[in-house]
Amino acid sequence: MKRKIGMWLYKNGGGEEIANKIIKKLKERDIETLNDINLRNAVVQDKHIIHNGVFVDELDLFFSYNAGEQTQYQMYIYQALNRIIPTINNYDAFSLTEDKFQTNFLLKHHGINTPDFELCHRDDTHYLKEIIQKWDKMVYKPTDGWGGIGLTKIEDEAMLDVLLPFLNQMDLRYFYVEKFIDYDKTDFRVDVVDGKFVACYGRKAGKGDWRTNVTSGGSVFLREANDEVVDLALKAAKICGLDIAGVDIIYDREKEEYVVLEVNGIPAFATPEQEKLGLDFNDKKIDLIVDLIDRKTKNRRQ
Ligand SMILES: Nc1ncnc2c1ncn2[C@@H]1O[C@H](COP(=O)(O)OP(=O)(O)OP(=O)(O)O)[C@@H](O)[C@H]1O
Ligand SMILES: [Mg+2]
Repeated sequence: MKRKIGMWLYKNGGGEEIANKIIKKLKERDIETLNDINLRNAVVQDKHIIHNGVFVDELDLFFSYNAGEQTQYQMYIYQALNRIIPTINNYDAFSLTEDKFQTNFLLKHHGINTPDFELCHRDDTHYLKEIIQKWDKMVYKPTDGWGGIGLTKIEDEAMLDVLLPFLNQMDLRYFYVEKFIDYDKTDFRVDVVDGKFVACYGRKAGKGDWRTNVTSGGSVFLREANDEVVDLALKAAKICGLDIAGVDIIYDREKEEYVVLEVNGIPAFATPEQEKLGLDFNDKKIDLIVDLIDRKTKNRRQ
């Protein structure tokens, strides 16, 4: 029987063209792709997840790659689906990396350098005072945030005092903070697929900002990787269990070492503008993803 997979990939920033290339390459290997399977629009009837008349649970694999349109409902169905058919990224690894604390906790236990971090119950704010005395500067981070939103740099105890009443109003269950790392306001983004290095590029923070996110005014630039950075990224992706990963790395000038800042489970392909800049890794990444889908679906039919 012919292999058939479901796919859901973002459409903005050149995503549609990427999806078409993947579909074409899979077809060359006799794998059919049902595109635009947004699980938000699926219903579950007993053992079947039904999307537009298709039993998604009977497909050979589901490829989910759409950060922007993710919903709680879609994630919930994705979790159930993952128990029945292979998913890329597999749900467990993906949901792990959706949470910065859970990810850093696991990485630290495997000997990977991450920023120093602490987590405390919302009622233990006195603890935050001790931390800032110890660290000098820290970053408050929502554990499930993105695009640099909600990140707050706390420079001293006075600033913490000003901030606490606001944080207390936010009905949070806990506080997650990281030591503020002294770095040159540039990072490495290392793309990994199936345990292999795909590409590296850099981002630098906009004027006056300390965050490298493009959404926070940062910009992308061509940047060569080095062995240390690649090795770190491959290890981090493996520990998290991600088949596809984008690992953000910065150089800590105080400790004089590279640290993994974040592991991303849906790292974007280069946009058409970025391709013009010289980021030319899309085809390589597509080929590795197609190989991966081919292999994972073959194993199922043996
Ligand atoms: N501990 C830290 N010390 C110094 N700078 C930091 C620290 N944590 C984050 N930053 C800066 O802030 C940026 C955003 O942080 P982070 O990647 O953790 O969150 P996010 O970008 O909002 O999440 P996502 O990448 O999932 O969208 C980083 O790219 C980095 O430039
Ligand atoms: Mg980030």
